Amino acid sequence: MAERETWATRLGFLLAAIGSAVGLGNIWRFPFITSENGGAAFLVVYLLAVLVIGLPAILAEFVIGRRANTSAIGAFRKLGRPGWWFVGAVGVIAAFWTLSYYSVIGGWVLRYIGGSVTGNALAAPEGYFGAISVGLSSIGTHAVFMLITIGIVALGIEDGIELATKVMVPAVVVMLVGLAVFAATLPGASEGYAFFLNPDFDVIVSNFGSVLPAAFGQALFSLSLGFSVMITYASYLGEDDSLPVDGFSIAVSNTAIGVLAGLVVLPLLFAQGIEAGGGGPGAVFVAIPTALAELPGGELVGQAVGIVFFGVILIAALSSAISLLEAAVAFLVDNYGFSRLPTAAGLGAVVFALGIPSAYDTAWLNWFDGIGVTLLLPLAVLLVVLFVGWVLGRDAIDELRTGSTSGSLASIWLWWLRTVVLAVVVIVVALNLWDLFATPDTGYYFIPSPLR
Ligand code: TRP
Repeated sequence: MAERETWATRLGFLLAAIGSAVGLGNIWRFPFITSENGGAAFLVVYLLAVLVIGLPAILAEFVIGRRANTSAIGAFRKLGRPGWWFVGAVGVIAAFWTLSYYSVIGGWVLRYIGGSVTGNALAAPEGYFGAISVGLSSIGTHAVFMLITIGIVALGIEDGIELATKVMVPAVVVMLVGLAVFAATLPGASEGYAFFLNPDFDVIVSNFGSVLPAAFGQALFSLSLGFSVMITYASYLGEDDSLPVDGFSIAVSNTAIGVLAGLVVLPLLFAQGIEAGGGGPGAVFVAIPTALAELPGGELVGQAVGIVFFGVILIAALSSAISLLEAAVAFLVDNYGFSRLPTAAGLGAVVFALGIPSAYDTAWLNWFDGIGVTLLLPLAVLLVVLFVGWVLGRDAIDELRTGSTSGSLASIWLWWLRTVVLAVVVIVVALNLWDLFATPDTGYYFIPSPLR
């Protein structure tokens, strides 16, 4: 029986980790960030980022989690380094920040389920997105999405969501493959493929300072790194699980789903005559309904597919939002003995308030997203890498070797963390600070871009 139990927990772990990784980051964020940063050239840097930084960093979080066998904040105490608790705290703050606008987009997804039922979202996609993504409408759907998230976390019924995740991941793949096949039949799609798959390396060379942080930030965000969530999940792993195999499976499947979303959204945008870089945060919300409206079989087919598609994305968004809020709630409940329901409600209310500017105006959403993904996140990952690379040191090698046949791979990994990963993350943080605050052409230092 022990054998089977190990399998069950292992499968549960992989599902939970993949469920956390697969979310709006793959389906909403990846396509438009790719489009804004030069298409195929960005894709190349992104894939490199997953391999060179993402995979080693996810192993670093796994090592902390399994070694400590407890959730993120307590992990540092348990590993005999209580002074490092703030690494977990920085992760919780980053999660909190991210959830504030993640919920706004989750609200749009909710709205698009309604828009598919009535057909309004399919009738005039660009106008529809413009109307529902700002102002009171967007604040309202943001509130509803936050309420659902708070409800699930407060009641502690995440089990149900775990079950939903098992259906969600295969459903996302089926929907995206179906839409990708359909997109391929549209006139103009080929330009989308050329843009997404045929790299123009001049783009990287001339936009190095923005493409590099964008790609690395996206890689970390999409793999749910830096928020201590993977630390907590890995605490459930047994001695005979191979961390490298698990990390590799998660990185590959998560990346494949992002690329698949790109293969849907970019050809669709080009088929609609929206040029490269256009669409912004609305890209997926405009591209998909336009395709739905043209599906063979008529309006009702499009509406039905729309309900299923946005329903599946809603589950993906909720499963991620729940673990983001849960991170902060668990921190307060475990460390200060707060009770669960008021903590979830109180924190949820603060997250809601923090998200109001993003809901009101997408310029604010872009600003919050920029700070979160390209600054807070690499900073949080930097701390994790420092801890595993230089504090845990040889213990980390032992832990990575446990349950795997990697042998000397573990030593190479640690060396790689200490040097390449550390250097790249520092460069990314520096480039971002520069990009965010020192804008020599405007001179308005330290002022959020929407206010300039
Ligand atoms: N990876 C998620 C996505 O792609 C977003 C995310 C980032 C996340 N960090 C997280 C989700 C931590 C859950 C927990 O949408």
